[in-house]
Amino acid sequence: MSVLLPADDPGAIAEAARILRQGGLVAFPTETVYGLGANAQDATAVANIFAAKARPTFDPLIVHLADRSWLDRVVRSTPEAASILAARFWPGPLTLVLPKLPVVPDLVTAGLDTVGVRVPDHPAARALIEAAGTPIAAPSANLFGHVSPTTAAHVVEQLGDRVDAVLDGGPCRVGVESTILSLASGHPVVLRPGGVTREALAEVLGEAVGLARDQARDDKPLLAPGLFERHYATRTPLRLLSGRATDAGGLCRVGLLAYAGAPAAGFAAVEVLAPDGKPATAAANLFAALRRLDDCGLDLLLAEPCSEDGLGLAIMDRLRRCAAGAV
Ligand code: TXA
Ligand code: MG
Repeated sequence: MSVLLPADDPGAIAEAARILRQGGLVAFPTETVYGLGANAQDATAVANIFAAKARPTFDPLIVHLADRSWLDRVVRSTPEAASILAARFWPGPLTLVLPKLPVVPDLVTAGLDTVGVRVPDHPAARALIEAAGTPIAAPSANLFGHVSPTTAAHVVEQLGDRVDAVLDGGPCRVGVESTILSLASGHPVVLRPGGVTREALAEVLGEAVGLARDQARDDKPLLAPGLFERHYATRTPLRLLSGRATDAGGLCRVGLLAYAGAPAAGFAAVEVLAPDGKPATAAANLFAALRRLDDCGLDLLLAEPCSEDGLGLAIMDRLRRCAAGAV
């Protein structure tokens, strides 16, 4: 069993940093979801991340930095657009895919010559990376293919006996993962929608921002390895509705993931993602609500859709992938 450490205790941060420096695994809070961290320059430690998550090694990891000034420790060159975005959105839920330096092991990047980097917007995460003194590779701290963790309890549930320590910083503020942006083709393309909206990126860059999902249709190479159609899977099959739920059907025990407002009656369990109608609230509640419904032992979960602008794009992306895992 791993040690659970309070994220606001400087002594705990020092202990967790020591574990990282010695090649161990530490789960830590970020503003998006909990990460499963290891020293990004230690290929053996990184290999242990893949083993702990049962994650295929062709799925690259994001490297976390304490500060924007750390970029040139891991990145060969920084295009102007990347500097502008880093200055505007870091610390924050934006991952930039940039040309990597040889110090980043191939295992981290799944053999790609690019590396995904971000500075997390969580004081404990940055204090930990600073104290470890090295960039930290960290995927979300869940078993491969499962729902991402937004509390320390979620981490302990799936990975408790596979990590050396878990820093408990309470629930994550944003609740969906970072937006992953590639600048490799010269034009900005969102590989994974997340905590920074496509609209905000376009406004700061002053140009349109593409979406890999749309471009994948016209026979282009896969831009985002590891973005599997089936992901964020619940054990209970989930179906994404095309509009608001009207009734449970009455044939089996059905749970409802409602978006906002008064949900329909007749469901065995109901979670309302955004009682205040705000997408940010829905994002922050999404993964914990999915887990609670999944723990009810029902036959089927129905999820109401939301509009795909702003954070809604990331929420619908996760719901679609969860539904694709259902049989
Ligand atoms: O918010 C987040 O991004 C969280 C927290 C912990 O920072 N991390 C996270 O990591 O969601 P993970 O491993 O669950 O997702 C990382 C994804 C990979 O599946 C891959 O699609 C993309 O990032 N990625 C990483 N490096 C890449 C690269 N060099 N080129 C293209 N995509 C990359
Ligand atoms: Mg993940």
